[in-house]
Order: sequence, then C-alpha cells, then structure tokens
Amino acid sequence: MREMFTQGAYLAASVTFILGLRGLSSPATARRGMFFAEVGMLLAVVGTLIQHEIVRYEWIAIGMVIGSIIGALMAILMPMTAVPQRTAISHMFGALAATLVGVSEFYRHGNGAEIPHVQMAALGFEVMFGSLTITGSFMAFGKLQGFIRSAPMTYRFQNQSNITLFFVTLGLFAFLIFQPASPAVFYAMTALGLVIGVLIVMPIGGADMPVVMSLLNSYAGLAASATGFVIGNNVLIIAGALDGASGFLLSILMSRAMNRSFTNVLFGAFGSAPQAELALKAATDKAVRSISGEDAAIQLGYARSVVVIPGYGMAVAQAQHQVRELADEIEKRGGEVKFAVHPVAGRMPGHMNVLLAEANVPYDKLKDMEEINGEFERTDVALVIGANDVVNPAARHDRSSPIYGMPILNADQAKSVIVLKRSMNPGFAGIENELFYSPKTFMLFGDAKKSLSALINEVRQLE
Ligand code: TAP
Repeated sequence: MREMFTQGAYLAASVTFILGLRGLSSPATARRGMFFAEVGMLLAVVGTLIQHEIVRYEWIAIGMVIGSIIGALMAILMPMTAVPQRTAISHMFGALAATLVGVSEFYRHGNGAEIPHVQMAALGFEVMFGSLTITGSFMAFGKLQGFIRSAPMTYRFQNQSNITLFFVTLGLFAFLIFQPASPAVFYAMTALGLVIGVLIVMPIGGADMPVVMSLLNSYAGLAASATGFVIGNNVLIIAGALDGASGFLLSILMSRAMNRSFTNVLFGAFGSAPQAELALKAATDKAVRSISGEDAAIQLGYARSVVVIPGYGMAVAQAQHQVRELADEIEKRGGEVKFAVHPVAGRMPGHMNVLLAEANVPYDKLKDMEEINGEFERTDVALVIGANDVVNPAARHDRSSPIYGMPILNADQAKSVIVLKRSMNPGFAGIENELFYSPKTFMLFGDAKKSLSALINEVRQLE
C-alpha cells in the first residue's frame, strides 16, 4: 500500500515537473510553472518520507528544518541581482548531496566489493560528475560574488592539460566498472573530479558564467539521475534527466543568442581585459554628443512613441522601478511606451523580464526582439538604459566583430536615441559601440538610477 502511494506520488511529481518546465517557457506562465514545480517537489518529498525503509525520522526532521531556514533566508535576503550566484551555490549543494549519497553507497557496500558492475557504472558516473560540479559551481559562485577574480585565468597548455586530466579520470571510472572493489581508485577519481571542477571554470570569465552554470546544472541533473539508478528511485531518475537535458539545451541556446560557439565559451577565455582596453583606445578618437537631463526630458516628454531598451546596466543600478515610473509619466502626457527585451540582455536568461516584472511593468508592454524591431523606424525616442552590446549595429556588418551575426535591437533606426550609462566603457563583449557616435544619439552620463530619478522630476515639471 505504502509502496503504491510512493510510486503514485512519484508519477504525479514527474508530471508536475514537466508542466513546471513548460510554464517556465514564457514570462506570463512562469509563476504557474514554478508553482507546479513546487507541488511536484512536495509530492516527491512526501512520497519518499512514507517509505517503509525509513525507521527513524529525527535526523530527517533536523535536516529539513535547517534546509528550510537556509532556503527561506536566501529567498528573503538575497537581492535580485544576486540570483546568478544564488543559483550557482544551489547547484553546488545539489551536487554535494548526490556525491555524498554515491560515496556512502560505495562505502556501505563493502567499499565497492558488493556492487554489481552495472550499478557501479551509475555510481561512478554520479560521483565523477557530482564532484566536478561541486567545485565548478563553487568557482562560479566565487567569480560572480567577486571573491574569486572574475577575469579568465589562463596559462599555457591549459586546455590540453584539462582534457588530459579529464580522460585520466574517465579511465579511472572505466576501471571501476570492471573492478568495483577498488577503493583507492574510487577516491582518486572523486578527488580528480574536484580538481577538474576548479580547473575548467578558472579560464572562463565572470560574464560567461551563466552559460557555464547551466552546463553545471545539467551535470548536477545527470549526477542526480545516476543517483536515482543507484538507490532505485524513479522520481530522481526522471527529475535528474529533465534537469540534465534542459540545462544542456539552455547553455547551447545562450551561446547561440550570444553568437558564440559552445566550445568558444568553454575554452575561449572570452571578455578578457586586453580586448576591452583595445576597444577603449579606439573609442577615444571620436566625439560623442552628451545631453543634459533637462533636454532629455523635453525629448521624452513630447515624444509620441518611446521604446525603452533595458540592459545589464539597469540591473546593476537596480533602476527598474524608476524605469517604470518614467514610463508612467510619459504615458500620462500621451506618449506610448514599449519595452524591447533582447534575449541575452543582462547576464542571465530572462534577466530583464524578471526585473521589469518586479517593477510591475505589464507583460503586454514587453516586446520580443522580433516583435519590436519593425517598429523602431516609427519610434520617436529609443531610450537605452545600461544596454550596450544588444544595440551595437556592428553586429550587422562588421565581420571582424566578436558579436558579428548576433541579432540586435534596431535602436539606431529610431528618430532619436538617448543612452543612459556612466562612461564610454564597453559592455560584456569589450568592444566599442558605433551607435554612441551616431549623429542622432545623445549620451546621458551617470548612474542609471540617478539619471532616471532626475528625468522623472524634469518630465513632471514640463508644461
Ligand atoms: P552590456 O553590453 O554588458 O553593457 C552594459 C552596459 O551597462 C555597460 O556598457 C555599462 O557602461 C552600463 N552600466 C553598468 N552599470 C551601470 C549603471 N550603474 N548605470 C548605468 N549604466 C551602467 O549589456 P547588454 O547590452 O545587456 O548585453 C548583454 C551582454 O551580456 C551581451 O553581450 C550578451 O551576449 C552577454 N551575456 C548575456 C547573458 C544572458 S543569458 N543574458 C549571459 C552571458 C553574457 P558603463 O560602465 O559606462 O556605465
């Protein structure tokens, strides 16, 4: 009876996980998707807790209380901008759990002596991918949080030595499948997995971390799936496989949207300082037109159509509420405001959607790139807020540019462009932006939040 209930709960959980993923495919259904996923997780936990193998609940209860407190504090205290590093640390804990289960199963079964070959394959896979995900995610967390240098750390023959080390670890894994009773090999493989995690993330720049993290997410999912095979838990197999597949697809889609090959993200040490310096040097030769808050307010206050293009700088400045307020002021005066959201604006998928939703910008005002690009020609003012690469026209014609081929928002086709940023510093790709030198572009220098607050006041004072 209990077993039937457990399996029923697992089946229902698997279905809700799939519905959850489906819901996450659009901002409008994302909340519902999260709700499904939460219900699924609850079903999976309840289904597991009623199993008859569990004889004592004390330790489980203590673990649940501690976990819930940490989870609640993280959700309440961490700011929206820290979501990428929060995700990284969650992956680390997931991988740590999978690895510890693997190690304890190995130890419990006579240090591998009682483990059949097929089960050893699943267990070895779990521990190998789990251990590299632990340290890899921790490195990603450190780089995003800023306590590990975010710039790519490179040295000669780095890729070659990393790949060699990975194949040595794979060799140990293969050996274990044939000789499961080899504790020394098992622990050496685990230790090497931990080292590889550090080494593979070292050469990747902080800004590329989201791609790496979704890849690590996929590894953690695969490790969890393997754990499911080891301990005979169906929901873990299914949820792990979903996690593994969606994480892998997400990393490929992100690389594509950034117009980078997947291998280039993983081995390219992209976004390094020298590129940025080069771009800056070139930029100093040309002149830009800066604008005062007062003049920018006049343009915005009398515009009939305004398209706001938010970017990473809006997230840094946490200016989303001011953006909405300014849009409200313009609309009060009869102008129409739309928000153009580029798929890779910011530093994580859906970054802008999350921030604008937090500021209660209605979904129907958020426009995808394909939807809005045809409208720029009829737009009076394109208001670029801390965005840079996603509006760089070089992506269309400059074959030597690292972003060549990336679809961009056609801000340059608007009648006038106002750009809010602090300096002429480049964005993520480390290259200058010709849009800033266009005769119809006006730069409003300063922190986006401060500039927007001033603009709101100025627009309010207009006749
Ligand atoms: P970026 O090109 O990175 O430009 C952001 C701009 O914001 C910078 O030029 C910066 O200029 C400005 N800024 C920073 N802090 C600011 C503040 N407090 N106030 C005002 N401006 C500020 O941003 P984007 O246009 O959103 O493009 C995203 C880039 O990240 C793309 O190249 C994309 O490929 C990459 N990327 C995206 C993702 C995902 S999934 N979204 C993941 C990894 C990488 P100043 O310093 O002069 O202010």
